[in-house]
Amino acid sequence: MPDTVIADPAAALPDRIQGVGTSQIGLVADKGRDDPDVVKLWIGEGDLPTPDFIVEAAHRAMLAGETRYTYSRGLPRLHQALSDYHRRHWGVEVAPERFTVTAGGMNAIMQACQALLDPGEEVIIPSPNWPNLAESVRVTGGVPVSVPYRRTADGRFSLPLEDILAAVTPRTRILVVNSPSNPTGWVMPLAEMEALRDAARERGLWILSDEVYGHFTYGNAIAPSFLQVCTPSDRLIVASTFSKNWAMTGWRAGWMVYPAGLEGVFNKLGQYNTTSIPTFIQHAAVAALEEGDGFIRTMVSRCAESRTIMVEGLSRLKGVTVFPPEGAFYLMARVEPGEANRGETSLELAFRLLREAKVGVAPGTAFGPEGEGFIRICFAVSPELAREAVTRLTRVLGTR
Ligand SMILES: Cc1ncc(COP(=O)(O)O)c(C=O)c1O
Repeated sequence: MPDTVIADPAAALPDRIQGVGTSQIGLVADKGRDDPDVVKLWIGEGDLPTPDFIVEAAHRAMLAGETRYTYSRGLPRLHQALSDYHRRHWGVEVAPERFTVTAGGMNAIMQACQALLDPGEEVIIPSPNWPNLAESVRVTGGVPVSVPYRRTADGRFSLPLEDILAAVTPRTRILVVNSPSNPTGWVMPLAEMEALRDAARERGLWILSDEVYGHFTYGNAIAPSFLQVCTPSDRLIVASTFSKNWAMTGWRAGWMVYPAGLEGVFNKLGQYNTTSIPTFIQHAAVAALEEGDGFIRTMVSRCAESRTIMVEGLSRLKGVTVFPPEGAFYLMARVEPGEANRGETSLELAFRLLREAKVGVAPGTAFGPEGEGFIRICFAVSPELAREAVTRLTRVLGTR
């Protein structure tokens, strides 16, 4: 006899939902999010507000009545603006039909998993990784398989292609690449993208390329995109977002690029996920793409300045090893056991830094077990705030 009511509602859910992980960043943030004295560097967003020209475009669109349902995949005008943006920055031609506008990069990744995965299929994810990648795989019935980044002698993260390929099994369906990477700052060179493309072609695997930090690099060029090395017929999905470039994390606007010919599929998936994102937000997104290149430059140069302050400041701390990340906007600082780390897990250390230094950092294990021994610090903040964080952390951890 089935129970008429459920005694334990969570236990009544399918394994793929019961297995979904809890965010460790949330565990730390919940202890300090309402404290105005905490320098909050735990989350992946900057401290600048969305620029006025974007807010005004949304406002104008609302007043003009752009408040109704629209195309599931997004406004054709926005697809055209996305196509122009990719040509301008990466020199690639992406036909407007190959874009779907999504509720952030998050929903782009979820739709990719929904479209590609059969139950039990494996998805290879370099780790430590942004946790939502692995959890999207789990929610859609797939099995995330971690491939640890290696560390070079100077502390940088690296990802040899042979490590990715060694994890491939007959059940593998997708290879995930996140370059520039959250949290490691690793950037995949173009030649390695070509090599991975060739390996994926030979094995009939999909590449899911999370390129949301593409503009955040600290050399001379923006990060390469898989769109530069793949044809419209390759098994490639690229996920991207308005969140990071234009300080629009709360707008929940992103996009994906899929192979030519899949617009019908993503039209349906768009319909059954969100039935498009809000129409007036799409008008604001057009403004971001068409008028926002200057703002991206401001964001990135501000991050570059704060990155230097934090790398210099934190490398003086006792037991702490940092290296300048090539991309994204995080420092993955290694905290060696000893005085700085009193035998604490990275989660315990994050709690202590919140209590004693009033600095909110993300524990490395929020990004998988490979993150143990690290804390992740977001430097997409003003140079003043970066200096303040360094001062507070120095007070608690001490210098060498
Ligand atoms: C690697 C990575 N991908 C995707 C996202 C998605 O961001 P959003 O959903 O705000 O577009 C994030 C956000 O932190 C991220 O770090």
